[in-house]
Amino acid sequence: MKAYRFDTLDGLDALRLREEADPRPQRGEVLVRVRAVSLNFRDLAMPRGRYPRPCLPGLIPISDAAGEVVEVGEGVASFKVGDRVIGAFHPRWFGGDMPSTIQKDSYGAESDGWLCELKAISQEAVVRIPDSLSFEEAATLPCAGLTAWSALTGPTPIRAGHSVLVLGSGGVSIFALQLARAVGATVIATTSSDAKGEQLRAMGAAEVVNYAKDPQWGRQVRALTGGRGVDRVVEVGGPGTIAQSLRAVALGGEIASIGFLSTDNPGIDFFQLKGSGASFRNITVGDRSGLMELIRVVTATGLKPVIDRVFAFEDARAAFDHLESGTHMGKIVIRV
Ligand SMILES: NC(=O)c1ccc[n+]([C@@H]2O[C@H](COP(=O)([O-])OP(=O)(O)OC[C@H]3O[C@@H](n4cnc5c(N)ncnc54)[C@H](OP(=O)(O)O)[C@@H]3O)[C@@H](O)[C@H]2O)c1
Repeated sequence: MKAYRFDTLDGLDALRLREEADPRPQRGEVLVRVRAVSLNFRDLAMPRGRYPRPCLPGLIPISDAAGEVVEVGEGVASFKVGDRVIGAFHPRWFGGDMPSTIQKDSYGAESDGWLCELKAISQEAVVRIPDSLSFEEAATLPCAGLTAWSALTGPTPIRAGHSVLVLGSGGVSIFALQLARAVGATVIATTSSDAKGEQLRAMGAAEVVNYAKDPQWGRQVRALTGGRGVDRVVEVGGPGTIAQSLRAVALGGEIASIGFLSTDNPGIDFFQLKGSGASFRNITVGDRSGLMELIRVVTATGLKPVIDRVFAFEDARAAFDHLESGTHMGKIVIRV
């Protein structure tokens, strides 16, 4: 099979395509012919040295994939040849508390990911996908889709009448916009581009704020809610956006802390954090049961993942460059 690996973690030039031995499914494993993978910011953060944890060089990158089962190992009862599946982002987190294996299993960081033609994997680490989703669409769900769903659910699930703030127009944020609209919530979106702002409105954002033009955008968001603030912030910006997010959130609201897109890190003011009256919840994508719930939601609502562009397998490097350009909206996919 063909597989890409980052030989070193000092930039995108270290991405190499090689011919490797085909994997064989062991007991309890399925062999998946990969049909599509989708990129996430983490896939760029690792080779750029911006991932918040140490990563191993030499691994196959990319956590999110969809494909077809082409062989089953001994003792596999859950799947048969021809089944269409996606990989779970956390292959051994089935529900309940996070397992201690979570970092070791991290695709692209500490274990081989999915930018390859064939992958042998535990039957417990894949989930069946409905016919209504193409491989390209399904490949967007494991990380960005599930993270957005986890951010909107949790102890206080977002429902009709709630307000949700999404930051920027990347993969997680667009899913959060779509899913929040699907449950009847009102969405306020930020973006650095007025042209993207028009597209965000067309996707259902009630209000759009340009964060590049107004560094105090948190105040503007709060004003748009009549001074109350939003019930949920889908916080993908991290250190450089948290202060404005705290301005935008309602008393009793929640900051779902997800990402670290911003490069500046001015620190957090304790009294602002305390005074916001909001809770702060850390999101780590989500577990297998959450992924299955997301698939049910997508199927029931007919939600179509927003795919910015699909690249050919041979052009994988160009897909990483496109992600880095930040010009995309939603997801970038590589067809395998
Ligand atoms: N904790 C978790 O479970 C988890 C899961 C998934 C992702 N993440 C993290 O969440 C973040 C988003 O991931 P992603 O894959 O959705 O990213 P992405 O698709 O690469 O998002 C890129 C977009 O984010 C916006 N953006 C960039 N810098 C920004 C800033 N300083 N403030 C506001 N918006 C900004 C820009 O939108 P505009 O062009 O519209 O301005 C940009 O186009 C990343 O840090 C990722 O690592 C964490």
